[in-house]
Amino acid sequence: MNKVPVFVLIFTFSAIFLVTYEGCNKYVKKTTIEKESFGTLPNGKKIDIYTLQNKNGIELKIMNYGGAIVSARVPDKNGNFADVVLGYDSLQGYLKDNPYFGPIVGRYANRIAKGKFALKGKVYTLALNDGPNHLHGGMKGFDKRVWDAVPEKVKNGVALKLHYFSKDGEEGYPGDLNVTVTYTLTNNNELRIDYSATTDKPTIVNLTNHTYWNLAGKGDILNQEMMINADKFTPVDSTLIPTGELKSVRGTPFDFRKSRPIGDQINEDDPQLVYTHGGYDHNWVLNKNVPGSLTLAARVTEPISGRVLEIWTTEPGLQFYSGNFLDGSITGKNGQVYRKHDAFVLEAQHFPDSPNHPNFPSVVLKPGEKYTQTTIYKFKTVQ
Ligand code: BGC
Repeated sequence: MNKVPVFVLIFTFSAIFLVTYEGCNKYVKKTTIEKESFGTLPNGKKIDIYTLQNKNGIELKIMNYGGAIVSARVPDKNGNFADVVLGYDSLQGYLKDNPYFGPIVGRYANRIAKGKFALKGKVYTLALNDGPNHLHGGMKGFDKRVWDAVPEKVKNGVALKLHYFSKDGEEGYPGDLNVTVTYTLTNNNELRIDYSATTDKPTIVNLTNHTYWNLAGKGDILNQEMMINADKFTPVDSTLIPTGELKSVRGTPFDFRKSRPIGDQINEDDPQLVYTHGGYDHNWVLNKNVPGSLTLAARVTEPISGRVLEIWTTEPGLQFYSGNFLDGSITGKNGQVYRKHDAFVLEAQHFPDSPNHPNFPSVVLKPGEKYTQTTIYKFKTVQ
């Protein structure tokens, strides 16, 4: 038998080891957070964008203008990554024509009828920026503010801590409000958003995130399957203000208790779907045994890619908006034209127009109290 010299054996094994190690290493991602410039506002203020990556390669981009989620690259059932969030390639797009792509919305997310509410007998008047109503915090809500940002490495991931000081009287709201929103990307493939706020005068607070999702990364969302954990929803009038009724979803197009395609009944001749410009733009009353507990609100499944998005929240309501006002006039990332029903927005929040409906959970925040809300987006796959 021929003898193989020892040095040849050592060389061969070392080479095999190195090739295998390098091969594996390609797939082992590090948990990182990095900052880059994302452009300049007309007033000269510099905007940064942060890239958060977890060890499974999920990558989120968040900018400090509006605290907006600019992209989210998540894997499908075969490990192929796609960006599942609508938006623009550059800051300029966000400043020009922006139906709330990805930002933090406040001081009061959603609508307030006729822009009026009362606290301790005093009536406050807010801007009417949605027909006869106030929407998403007014002309210059939290989505159009520059937030202070601090990146952090945390136990099981990376986080971006954002802070904004909203002064007394801003957009007509009373009280100095200190707001902190922390985005955490965990190695369990979760995006966790923790919100908190304190005030020095009684005020109203309702914060949410307004990301437009499309789990296929393109096309419409009508075949994506939605489950909403709610037995009731809040029907609206023709200006999208709740009537005050908590109506059972049973036998209506609003019944998503069992997962089914979003498009199933979206074109039904129901006045509720007509007021909204053809589709869903309503608040569901989430099933919750204990108010404020973190529970599953919704699950969306994209049948071809197998991507799944779950939303868990401490909030009592979930606004599901099916992108009805997208009309093909916006060209977003990578030249994609955004058409009606090309995305869904799931806004965990208190009910719309709560200050004018004593039967809805309260949105009043008083000095000495702390507003908190937590919403978790879980990225999963099914075969
Ligand atoms: C509202 C829609 C509105 C959209 C603005 C949603 O939260 O419910 O009615 O058109 O935001 O982009």
